[in-house]
Amino acid sequence: MTKERMMELIEILNEANYNYYVLDNPTITDQEFDKYLRELITIENAHPEWRQEDSPTQKVGGEVIDSFGKITHEIPMLSLSNVFSEEEIIAFDERIRKEGVHPTYMCELKIDGLSMSLNYKDGKLMTGATRGDGVTGEDITHNVKTIKTVPFKLKEKVDIEVRGEIYMSKKTLEELNRVRKENNEPLLQNARNAAAGSVRQLDSKIAASRNLDCWIYHLPNPEDYGIMTHSEAIDYMKKLGLKTNPCNKLVSDVQGILDYINYYHVHRKELPYDIDGVVIKVNSIKDQKKLGYTAKYPKWATAYKFPAEEVLTKLKDIIFTVGRTGQITPNAVLEPVLVAGSTISRATLHNEDYVKMKDLRIGDIVSIRKAGDVIPEVVEAKKERRTGNEKEFEMIKNCPICGDFLYKKEGQVDYYCMNPLCPKIHMEGLIHFVSRHAMNIDGLGERIIEDFFNLKYIAKKSDIYHLDEHRDSLTELEGYGEKSIDNLLQAIENSKKNSLERLLFGLGIPNIGEKTAKMLAQRYGTLDHLMEAPFDELVAIPDIGPIIAKSLVEYFAKEENREEINRLKELGINMTYTGPKIEVNTAFEGKTFVVTGTLEKFSRDEIEEKIRLLGGKASSSVSKKTAAVIVGANPGSKYDKAKELGIPIWSEEDFVNQVNE
Ligand code: IVH
Repeated sequence: MTKERMMELIEILNEANYNYYVLDNPTITDQEFDKYLRELITIENAHPEWRQEDSPTQKVGGEVIDSFGKITHEIPMLSLSNVFSEEEIIAFDERIRKEGVHPTYMCELKIDGLSMSLNYKDGKLMTGATRGDGVTGEDITHNVKTIKTVPFKLKEKVDIEVRGEIYMSKKTLEELNRVRKENNEPLLQNARNAAAGSVRQLDSKIAASRNLDCWIYHLPNPEDYGIMTHSEAIDYMKKLGLKTNPCNKLVSDVQGILDYINYYHVHRKELPYDIDGVVIKVNSIKDQKKLGYTAKYPKWATAYKFPAEEVLTKLKDIIFTVGRTGQITPNAVLEPVLVAGSTISRATLHNEDYVKMKDLRIGDIVSIRKAGDVIPEVVEAKKERRTGNEKEFEMIKNCPICGDFLYKKEGQVDYYCMNPLCPKIHMEGLIHFVSRHAMNIDGLGERIIEDFFNLKYIAKKSDIYHLDEHRDSLTELEGYGEKSIDNLLQAIENSKKNSLERLLFGLGIPNIGEKTAKMLAQRYGTLDHLMEAPFDELVAIPDIGPIIAKSLVEYFAKEENREEINRLKELGINMTYTGPKIEVNTAFEGKTFVVTGTLEKFSRDEIEEKIRLLGGKASSSVSKKTAAVIVGANPGSKYDKAKELGIPIWSEEDFVNQVNE
């Protein structure tokens, strides 16, 4: 057990990792690798003082930081302009030729991840940073070190900065989402979000567990190394032991670019990682210099973005569902297909007009895509593939659950079941009442509500608070032990203390969402006060339009609703707002703010809530009326728009300072 042996093992294992992960060309077996690794761990444990920073054992993470430091990019990290069509690619090429450049282009895959910069000194990895706003990024060194394809040491002792993309493979993302689904956590919507969320972990063990990877595609100052072309830069970085993409290809004209795009448009499915387009770069560094930059983009490169993926399948049926407000929604039942990574067998068709406008017929071959890469959407029917056996769509006239006649409100497109006794509406209402953002009664999930409803233990909301009277018979039900029933009854009891906004949202008053419920609860303090508020007073509140005001007045006027509220009151359910008070701050009162990018101290919900508590309003789009845009890391187009409109830009720190003033 000598230090020499330890150094030798580090060398062997790092080389094996490089061959395996970077070159995709294993040189030793897994068993050999494990044997060497165990030997190394044994030595390191016996002699912690010998431990080396570049040891492969460090790839499992361990470093935890308190907050992200900042790293200034000496050469700003720019973004790329976008093109979406052949015409735009031709125009891009023409602009370049007009400058007297006769380009060779490098075509590269546009990796769907997030960009990073790596700094090496003397061949040793010093720091890793995110792009941030392009000038200052976040120090993510502790997490970058856990990426197996980021070498601790380069093959030459050079001082160099390289840039590339951190990404998560399709397989890892799928696996992560499978676990999240099991734990009832929100799913990560795409590889980019997944990678971004992972590098923003304070605990590097979590980042390590995310199995991130990278492709290196940019050398910011090639001349310092005597490099004249981008392709040479790629070769050089590869020689240093960095992971460069083998799909890169040099082409000599627009046709070459189009061929590359078409090839990967078809074959992107087979890649183990997500790409969202192709990047086209002028190869000669001299030409790049000549073409120069705009404020945001290099003029010598652009990104072609793929159109959203569309897949064909059969529309097997259109079925109707009843929501908690009685709203009837047609839904497409599809032959299951894989779209952008997940299997789709259902898609909402919104309403009768939507189906008729698209002229969807049962039996049609339809194209499906995921809007924003998340929500499945039926794009159109392939009319040329009709056989004549397709069935035309007909809106139903009666509720699919209770059979009652359906009504359409004036000027609206949706049909409603208005039967106050429709069991489905009741059940959906109960499910909503107990849900996480409403009364938040743990253990009272959809299935249990359905069971208890069918067994007639609960028909209306207040019955939930009588369940304790049935404790003994409930514990005898199959599948419900004493312990689980007691826990459930305790959760029901606890929910009585909820602040008013939860009850108000839970009542399921049409058009009253979570945010409106909160604002009303804060404003009125008690349910009694709100129930007395006349229409005119309600519409005068900012953000309350005539639809919401009418909805509230109508709801509270109904005898059956007043009776139910009384029953809840008698059962001891709190009807007072007990959350944080509005502390109006003149810097915020009556003003609208927009938040973009990832913040450090607040989640998006938290900062928006804080803005509301200060008397302001949080909006999702920037306009001339926006008072300020609060910008975190990796801001989106809202940041650009704010700059364009000259809207004040606040960092998170500026925001905190304003709050404290
Ligand atoms: S080159 C000055 N190459 O796309 C050149 N970017 O939309 C800067 N990206 O911020 C970037 N794959 O995060 C380049 N092969 C590739 C890329 C790539 C993905 C990302 C990168 C950039 C964004 C621009």
